Amino acid sequence: MSFTRFYQRDRPAPADLRLADLLGMLSRALDITEGQPEGHCIRCAYIGTRLGQNIGMNGTDLADLYFTLLLKDLGCSSNAARICSLYLADDISFKRDFKTIDDSLGAALRFVFAKTGLESGLSERFRALVNILQNGQKISRDLIETRCQRGADIAGQMRFSMAVQDGIRALDEHWNGGGKPDGLAGAAIPRNANIALLAQVVDVFHTEAGPDAAMAEVTARACKWFAPDLAQAMAELGAEPAFWATLSRPDIADIVFALPPAHQGAPVTEDYLDDIAQAFAAVIDAKSPFTADHSSRVTLYTDIIAEELGLKPDHRRWLRRAALLHDLGKLAVSNQILDKPGKLDPDEWAAIKSHSLHSERLLAQVAAFADIAPIAGAHHERLDGKGYPYGLVGDQICLETRIVTTADVFDALSAERPYRAAMPLAKVFEIMEGDIGTAFDGACVVALQRGLARLNARAA
Ligand SMILES: [Fe+2]
Ligand SMILES: [Fe+2]
Repeated sequence: MSFTRFYQRDRPAPADLRLADLLGMLSRALDITEGQPEGHCIRCAYIGTRLGQNIGMNGTDLADLYFTLLLKDLGCSSNAARICSLYLADDISFKRDFKTIDDSLGAALRFVFAKTGLESGLSERFRALVNILQNGQKISRDLIETRCQRGADIAGQMRFSMAVQDGIRALDEHWNGGGKPDGLAGAAIPRNANIALLAQVVDVFHTEAGPDAAMAEVTARACKWFAPDLAQAMAELGAEPAFWATLSRPDIADIVFALPPAHQGAPVTEDYLDDIAQAFAAVIDAKSPFTADHSSRVTLYTDIIAEELGLKPDHRRWLRRAALLHDLGKLAVSNQILDKPGKLDPDEWAAIKSHSLHSERLLAQVAAFADIAPIAGAHHERLDGKGYPYGLVGDQICLETRIVTTADVFDALSAERPYRAAMPLAKVFEIMEGDIGTAFDGACVVALQRGLARLNARAA
């Protein structure tokens, strides 16, 4: 039997990769989670870096600002499930729409009434609203704290400096002390955080309603959200028509990846690529409590099978990255559907099924991970052609995909879930053996059994 091995395709050596391009393209996955049009973080990097340059930042300080802007939403997936359960609403559109309301308590309350539990029964909606009215301040503080702290931690995992981590942690602090989670005020707010918040507001309102709307928000929030000198610098930058023309260019990503701080990222080694894949796996796994640690366990099982099947070390390392990122596209699916306890309707089921295509599309845009994109895209295919999204049959499914699929289903069946206990391994393998030749490759299932038995014996 012949297999297509994507990992043998030509791909850029790590030495030819630049951190800015790599993270910039991965930031598109964060945009989707936040309900923003793809390219939001990249455009924020343009706005914020230009602003930083205009106020005299350069060197390492400007590079730290640049990466803070690209990665400001790293914690975005960690509060999605909670937003969904508190507001009984689709987390993705909730997050998107919340960014365009004005800065007043009245607007926030109107938003909550307009959004909460629209598709739920009256009593459920009422209960959710009462909870929000009674505990609103604490709820929103907790949501922001989780998001910002988690984002800062993941940036640390990706080897970024404290300046970047602090910038992400304080993203939602406001100049007047009215922000969250710590109510920092004035100069106590890291400069990178305040610039990133300003860039975010400018991009959201510019995308929604154009330059005038964006600048009106900057003026309205000056001295409330933004440091007065930053708001002033933004007013000067916004007076340049060329600034807005560049921001709207279709090749804005290339422009951002050519800015001076983009040349300052750490070299991308194979080890660093592993760390970046692992960090994004953490973003994926934080999206839903039902699948916490799923990507890292699938990676472990994938590697056990690959080792048993005799794959070489560099091939195994490459395949571990595919396993870590196979569910990246779940970031594009609402938690209202991902975490739904009951039966899914056809539209919801279609949304779930779209996740592997989203994984493939997002990874294909990232040079360092483009060759694992087909594996992520095909991890729900079955040998009998009844899988999705392509309905591939037999040899059309490569060995590496078969390995990840086996590991993925093994984890889905064997892991403890909030709604059911872990299934005994004997039962899991009984189910999987019954689907050999139709869903799974027998060699992969046997390799997993053998590998787990060997690990067990070693541990004993
Ligand atoms: Fe999946
Ligand atoms: Fe999965």
